[in-house]
Amino acid sequence: MPEFYKKIFNNNKEWVKHHLEADPNYFKDLSEGQKPPILWIGCSDSRVPANEVTGTKPGEVFVHRNIANMVIHTDMSMLSVLDYAVNVLEVRHVIVCGHYGCGGINAALTSKKFGIIDNWLRHIKDVYRMHKEEIDALQTEDEKQRRMVELNVQEQVFDLAKTSIIQQSWANGKFLQVHGIVYDIANGILKDLGVNFNSNEDMDQVYRFDF
Ligand code: CO
Repeated sequence: MPEFYKKIFNNNKEWVKHHLEADPNYFKDLSEGQKPPILWIGCSDSRVPANEVTGTKPGEVFVHRNIANMVIHTDMSMLSVLDYAVNVLEVRHVIVCGHYGCGGINAALTSKKFGIIDNWLRHIKDVYRMHKEEIDALQTEDEKQRRMVELNVQEQVFDLAKTSIIQQSWANGKFLQVHGIVYDIANGILKDLGVNFNSNEDMDQVYRFDF
């Protein structure tokens, strides 16, 4: 067995011991159910673990991760997570968290062919097309990549707000906020982008559903 693979089981034993010492009922309590107030949609990048960067514990954040934290309307996995989080767990906040230095964003800004992932990254190229003027006006590659990370989060928040799942929840009078944030791998800091919605009032009419 490779060393690193073996290590996770030793780590796990230590972790269980640590929690049981502090609270003998820790796992028993968790086994009784979950009521997380937050759904986190983040990047699969190993450097952005949702619980760790937010200082939250098991049971506090429902998580969905994919390459470049995308909200794609035909993605059954994302839609199922969103539906369950909103309608069963009744989360109060849905967060899209991007991160500077995102490989998915950087790859999408090139013309390189990577394989099957190109179909996924295509959605990021669409975000670039929508904001082409702003991105092209930036001087360095680094500035372009960083701004694209932010704009991509913003567009994914818009896409979340456009879903019938979120709009139905608002129509039912539920408290539900969607937020866009960015994590900086280089210093560990989370930044709120100020893209927050709790209704569909500012949305273009064609995206608004009649309920
Ligand atoms: Co990433």
